[in-house]
Amino acid sequence: LLPFGLQREVDSHLGAYLSKKSIIKGRSNSLSRSSNNGNMNNAGIYKRVGSDIQNNVAMEKIIRRKSLQLRNKQQEWLDSSEGQQMLEFRKSLPAFKERDMLLKTISENQVVVVSGETGCGKTTQLPQYILESEIEAARGAACSIICTQPRRISAMAVSERVAAERGENLGESVGYKVRLEGMKGRDTRLLFCTTGVLLRRLLVDRNLTGVTHVIVDEIHERGMNEDFLLIVLRDLLPQRPDLRLILMSATLNAELFSSYFGGAPTIHIPGFTYPVRAHFLEDFVEMTGYRLTQYNQIDDYGQEKTWKMQKQAQAFRKRKSHIASSVEDALEAANFKGYSSRTQDSLSCWNPDSIGFNLIEHVLCHIVRRERPGAVLVFMTGWDDINSLKDQLQAHPIFGDPSRVLLLACHGSMASSEQRLIFDKPEDGVRKIVLATNMAETSITINDVVFVVDCGKAKETSYDALNNTPCLLPSWISKAAARQRRGRAGRVQPGECYHLYPKCVYEAFSDYQLPELLRTPLQSLCLQIKSLQLGSISDFLSRALQPPEPLSVQNAVEYLKVIGALDESENLTILGRHLSALPVEPKLGKMLIYGAVFNCLDPIMTVVAGLSVRDPFLMPFDKKDLAESAKAQFSAQDYSDHLALIRAYDGWKASEAQQSGYEYCWKNFLSAQTLKAIDSLRKQFSYLLKDTGLIDQRTKNCNTWSHDEHLIRAVICAGLFPGICSVVNKEKSIGLKTMEDGQVLLYSNSVNGAVSKIPFPWLVFNEKVKVNTVFLRDSTGISDSVLLLFGGKISSGGLDGHLKMLGGYLEFFMKPAIADMYLSLKKELEELIQEK
Ligand code: CDP
Ligand code: MG
Repeated sequence: LLPFGLQREVDSHLGAYLSKKSIIKGRSNSLSRSSNNGNMNNAGIYKRVGSDIQNNVAMEKIIRRKSLQLRNKQQEWLDSSEGQQMLEFRKSLPAFKERDMLLKTISENQVVVVSGETGCGKTTQLPQYILESEIEAARGAACSIICTQPRRISAMAVSERVAAERGENLGESVGYKVRLEGMKGRDTRLLFCTTGVLLRRLLVDRNLTGVTHVIVDEIHERGMNEDFLLIVLRDLLPQRPDLRLILMSATLNAELFSSYFGGAPTIHIPGFTYPVRAHFLEDFVEMTGYRLTQYNQIDDYGQEKTWKMQKQAQAFRKRKSHIASSVEDALEAANFKGYSSRTQDSLSCWNPDSIGFNLIEHVLCHIVRRERPGAVLVFMTGWDDINSLKDQLQAHPIFGDPSRVLLLACHGSMASSEQRLIFDKPEDGVRKIVLATNMAETSITINDVVFVVDCGKAKETSYDALNNTPCLLPSWISKAAARQRRGRAGRVQPGECYHLYPKCVYEAFSDYQLPELLRTPLQSLCLQIKSLQLGSISDFLSRALQPPEPLSVQNAVEYLKVIGALDESENLTILGRHLSALPVEPKLGKMLIYGAVFNCLDPIMTVVAGLSVRDPFLMPFDKKDLAESAKAQFSAQDYSDHLALIRAYDGWKASEAQQSGYEYCWKNFLSAQTLKAIDSLRKQFSYLLKDTGLIDQRTKNCNTWSHDEHLIRAVICAGLFPGICSVVNKEKSIGLKTMEDGQVLLYSNSVNGAVSKIPFPWLVFNEKVKVNTVFLRDSTGISDSVLLLFGGKISSGGLDGHLKMLGGYLEFFMKPAIADMYLSLKKELEELIQEK
């Protein structure tokens, strides 16, 4: 086949495929489905009966009857002894005193901002007060309250708690809905959902028909989705004067939100917490006689990780963070001024970029041995650190002894059965230790915590608009977050908080964290704006609470044009519309769509899951050579980390089927946990693709899917473009170059990092990290023709634009072979146009 012929194949195949697949079907996810059968949306019922007055009257009757049923049921529960007991507890929460005032203000104002100390009863009580008062007024069946949570786990935990407080099972009057999972029934009136779920509902129902109250929780976190939702809701309010909006926040900066909504009233729920004593690093250096020097060699992963983190942090700091640089100044000052010689000694060798696991272990030992009873909450940066520390502690004589310590993890990606354990009270004499991410800061309340250990960092996505590179790095938290973490120790009695950093570092923290909108790439958000038909992207974003920099917006729009999600005039293309329905990054979504189109989803889902979770290949510092050669075996001269991942996963699946996959993982330096996470994500993807109509509902297994290596490379290229780098094999080295950065290098744990020659003219890569030079992570070799046909945008009739854009790249790299191919394609195209 001539390249052009092939190109046409690709074009028509994709065009025909996408237009056949009904995106509308995809949009009717469970939320909208529920509105169709009248679950939470009585307006749906009204609409169906139209203007038929008789039917309307009948409908009114049904609603009234249902409302009365709800009222009787609620009363029955309140009259029961269990209900009484629960009510007593609920009355003891600080929010209860404000109940009437809250309800009155909400009924008189369209927007209300509510703030209050964590644990005072905002999330569990306020939505319930609204529900109860509607039920008491016999309007229960006509109300529909949606309360958004930034995280899946809190939506699930909170709904379960509220259902229990109402003496019901989940899915009766209270339910939840998170991506791909939910529990709600015909009569659900109060729905806890993630912010993403509400945004997706807005896709099908811009006016939120039938919804009476929207409660946006945890707004102080300033997540991107929440900021986005606020713009949409603010625009919607004038059209829905009956809709009530309540914003809830744990901190006191309610003014910002109030003024964004034209001076909406704010209500503060005064809370009570016991005092918590703060110990900073220098205090417990004195207190426990701890010497940092001996522990500063840091953790399990060995030096390499520390080194990498340090380097990344340095690079990051150089580019951006004024927060971090003031922390640096503070540290420098601390090392030279004002501390006792022992503290100073310790501080000067204290490495702020990696909080040693051993330091945490030391503090925990101190608490378990010397302190009074009470649960311990440890704030760490992420899932991987939590698991490694958990492993390390489990091998310890104290922490590994279940009769003394109950060791638990708490992070966003854990199973719900595991989740529940964190709320349970351990047996007497057993100390509960929960290792958590910053999720436990505000959205989750563990009642019996008396001790908090705070590492001072949280993983934060940051984005450097100038280099157009996103990074996910542990960075210093804000003062507000540190105070919040500390506060978690004072819920039941006076508490203690161990901050694993000096006081001067705390002083240098910024007051509040930068909103996510200002520190992450905006590509997915821009797609959402377009698919919700919210007009010009830059106009829309300029209405945000704190608008992002124009350069970031421009980069995102440019990127979306390059990958073919937007056309030149910023309209959503068919591809773009499909991408916006998939809740993954556009490049991963594009890979999935191409995988579906070209019938090789099975391997592609593995790649996409691997890229969204993390690398399953372990590289222990002391066995690096062995681990690298184990990984190289999977690559088998393929020059592709992605193909290696596919093989490793397939091998694990096969060995799981026969026996336990652990031995296989052990032998091959693979993380069983990560492979399991990839496995579960793959399942989610296939539901998702069925739900969006991209693959057939009836597709059961993947046996018919192609595993052709060339095809897989091509689809990977389609997703990862414009992440391409040119390869020139030289005598002693390999020259790698990207258009934006010039010379680049590969990470040594890439299968392409250790070879002496790469027999491909190009590599596509997933991610680059700027240290001093730019390093590429995970790459796959591709041929000229694959780049020519799959790089950039493909849409029917879009060949001209496709070539024009690629031409820029190709000219830059000056590769004769591909340039010839490109010229002949172009000539063919011109002739074709002439003919037409
Ligand atoms: O949202 P806010 O932080 O203000 O508090 P909340 O989540 O509504 O929790 C109020 C109280 O309910 C907490 O102080 C806990 O005592 C209790 N609660 C519980 O026992 N179990 C849960 N799963 C959630 C809350
Ligand atoms: Mg809350």
